[in-house]
Amino acid sequence: MHIPPLLVLFVQCVYGVKEHMFKNCDNSGFCHRNRHFAQQVASNPSYSPSYSIDGDSISIHNDSSSEWSISANIKKELPSESDLGNIILPLKISFLPKNSIRFQIDEEQRQSITPGNKYVNSQRYNGTSDWAFQHTATTNTWENVNLDIESSKNKISASYGPAQEYSVEIQFNPIKFTISRHGEVQLIANEQNFLNIEHWRPQAENARHLTPEESDFNMFHDDFQDSSSDTIPLGPESVALDFTFKHFKNVYGIPEHADSFNLKDTTQTKYPYRLYNVDIFEYETNSRLPMYGSIPFMLASKPECSVGLFWINSADTFIDVDKTSKGGCCTRTHWISENNVLDFMLIIGESPNDINESYGAIVGYSQLPQVASLGYHQCRWNYNDEKDVLEINSLFDKHRIPYDYIWLDIEYAESKKYFTWNQDTFPDPERMVKELDHTGRNLVIIVDPHLKTGYFGSDELIKRKITINSPSNNQTYKGHCWPGESVWIDTMNPSSQAYWDYMFRYTDDNKFMGGLTTNVQIWNDMNEPSIFNGPETTSPRDLLHYGSWEHRSIHNVYGLTYHEATYKSMTERFTETGNKRPFILTRSYFAGSQRTAAIWSGDNMSTWEHLKISIPMLLTSGVSGLPFAGADVGGFFGNPSKELLTRWYQTGIWYPFFRGHAHIDSRRREPWVPGEPYTSIIRDALQLRYSLLPVIYTAFHESSTTGLPVIKPIFYENRKDIENFSIEDEFFLGNSGIFVKPVTDEAAETIDIYLPDEEIYYEFDNGVLSGNSVHRQSDKKSVTKHVDINTIPMYLKGGSIIAKKERYRRSSKLMVNDPYHLIIALDKSGKSSGKLYIDDGESFDYLQGESISIEFSATEENITASTTSQGQKFQNSISGVRIEQITIIGQDNSILPKKFLITQGGKKWQFRGVTQEKSTTIKNPGLRVDEDWTIEPLVDNQVHDEL
Ligand code: NOJ
Repeated sequence: MHIPPLLVLFVQCVYGVKEHMFKNCDNSGFCHRNRHFAQQVASNPSYSPSYSIDGDSISIHNDSSSEWSISANIKKELPSESDLGNIILPLKISFLPKNSIRFQIDEEQRQSITPGNKYVNSQRYNGTSDWAFQHTATTNTWENVNLDIESSKNKISASYGPAQEYSVEIQFNPIKFTISRHGEVQLIANEQNFLNIEHWRPQAENARHLTPEESDFNMFHDDFQDSSSDTIPLGPESVALDFTFKHFKNVYGIPEHADSFNLKDTTQTKYPYRLYNVDIFEYETNSRLPMYGSIPFMLASKPECSVGLFWINSADTFIDVDKTSKGGCCTRTHWISENNVLDFMLIIGESPNDINESYGAIVGYSQLPQVASLGYHQCRWNYNDEKDVLEINSLFDKHRIPYDYIWLDIEYAESKKYFTWNQDTFPDPERMVKELDHTGRNLVIIVDPHLKTGYFGSDELIKRKITINSPSNNQTYKGHCWPGESVWIDTMNPSSQAYWDYMFRYTDDNKFMGGLTTNVQIWNDMNEPSIFNGPETTSPRDLLHYGSWEHRSIHNVYGLTYHEATYKSMTERFTETGNKRPFILTRSYFAGSQRTAAIWSGDNMSTWEHLKISIPMLLTSGVSGLPFAGADVGGFFGNPSKELLTRWYQTGIWYPFFRGHAHIDSRRREPWVPGEPYTSIIRDALQLRYSLLPVIYTAFHESSTTGLPVIKPIFYENRKDIENFSIEDEFFLGNSGIFVKPVTDEAAETIDIYLPDEEIYYEFDNGVLSGNSVHRQSDKKSVTKHVDINTIPMYLKGGSIIAKKERYRRSSKLMVNDPYHLIIALDKSGKSSGKLYIDDGESFDYLQGESISIEFSATEENITASTTSQGQKFQNSISGVRIEQITIIGQDNSILPKKFLITQGGKKWQFRGVTQEKSTTIKNPGLRVDEDWTIEPLVDNQVHDEL
């Protein structure tokens, strides 16, 4: 592999991310000004806010029985000496499905101002929700409307929700929005009076516009490094507001940061949590620096209530978290964005999953991925040529290690010109792809949004006028990325889609995707966008997009517009070549990305800290509505020790998206490279992942319909125990009852496991139920477990039923007709239940009901499976699939039955189980998976009359 010397130099110079590369609150104009504003307000007891709602302007719209909104004007008073009058800020409050309320504040005078650049749209950008919201969810409807609006001189209140249990109060002066449950206040906007909207003013007149609380720091220029070329044509435009989470000690969400799950206090540092999509390779852990993706969604939970806040803004955003309040009064937060309309949504419910469900009803739930994409992905920068790819493919077979996808990084393309192949190294992509297909495997290739200048890919972008443009002339902007000088596709522009579709479509002239093959998928990287010579390694903020919007307004959502365009193109391609679900991996993301892509946590390092932090990072992503997430197994930069690599695989098998990846300078580290005993241990871990694919897929299905995180924090399982809210190194696999705490410490000999509740937890030993169990002692909520390099600490909670597939296969595709092993773990009262969702795992037919959902239940009387399916096609296709084994595990074998009567499809037969100390096994009971069945225990010598 050859890398141009200049690039090597570049990569080496910037090795080791330093905080000084990115803005903090002190040197970011809008953050600095708003923190200053907040400090002035907080330290002045006689502060009288400049903002108030004009009570006379209120109007309530309920045009039809299901559409409700309230509109009013907010007045911002300017200093009296300015004789400028008031600034009018129109406010709209609308009621969205599932107990969410949206507040939007615009600025009236923006209709008539003259910006400093004639190409710039002078409005406040209000299109973030067009990208973030799922299109079917944007209407202002409210189910169970029983809105009872009460108004007085200084406030309006309304109660809502199915049993009128929620209420909102809108106070006019000082402005305050309060959300309560059963009359108890839960969430307050502007309790601290930090509401601030920097209205438009010309630089020459700025002094007349400043209120005493305001600072004019960097309002019209930017001092920070390369950012100094920012022309800031609209001057200061920030929006900021505080939110108080009443009696909530813990808040979560706002990815992406390499930090703890439970968000930290930021008041004593110049680093509030920052949301600004940047290329932050070799990032440090325990940091609030911005990363590749942004989801401005925060969740707060406590035993009796949960709330969510979605700050609908795609501009640079800082969030201060203040946990210093005395006596557990609350967690206070301060949200500050560089520009756009002020737009946010407040959600209320009982459990955290209620909040995920309501949030997902607006922004969409996670896609249901193809089963193959839940298998193992083998990537590195780079597999060098066709021979290399096929050799790796066969080495997996040689070592009996399953995998589903092999990946090609940027070197496959000629001179990194995406949509071309390097003819020397990949002379016949179609041949290679077919060979992979032959072994049940798939390929992912990378396509980044920067297109090298001087070839058809970029020439056509320029010709069609679908590039991101320079502010000086509104013509194509040129910057630097992997291929050298490049241009960027503007996927905000609706015309870009047709071009993108064309690039992925099979035609006689375009065989880029391996001809008509259907096993090639796409990786979208560097879409923050990463621009090597741009400020903070990204785009200058004053670049222009479709609609004359500044990049400043849409920065954090650009990555989503790009991967969504790819998803749509791939959907179209598959409509023509075979009905398959696209799989897209994106590095940059925003709220809504979960509908069309998986994400990973970018360029981590081969260190124990990075292994450890991957768990809270993925928990955060899951509770923020984006469960299909992973981290590079082994660490991207560096060379992991054999022990670290092994532990990383044992942890990685729990990542919803599971991929090994390595930097071009790292040594090869495929699972067989470390040798024995490590290779066998890694094989066992991978086989465990594959055996659990039915459980993982079921968890994804649940997530795609209710927003449930796929790796689920333990407080989702039990909110009565306050300590569960701070656990960030343990999790459940969806609602399956599988509970895990991976080993992430070097040379660990023991591990302390905090038990989430008082139920029995049955232990697995190397992936197999051992018959041992643990449960909480009254004085001790954790257990200490001895571990060696083989150990993956995992348990099945009493009361659960899971279905595994245990035969070794090369890839998930070859497991489709494999039989299931049902594991029934009885709870303390001898009962259990569980779910299994099955469909063809690759097409969209499930949307037409071509799937089967099975509910299992076990009681002392019987074990039952009850199936639901609307489509006959899929049901017929799996009529040969059997349950090959049922294992019933309980604490005491005297209660376990030994002989059974089985009923399915009108037939009955008797069966004898094999009883061990704590379990009974029924081998080959002859049950089909596609139809209901019942198993009843028989007393030892009983023969059923009807047989
Ligand atoms: C940066 C990505 O984060 C990394 O995974 C990839 O290997 C390189 N770009 C090269 O494409």
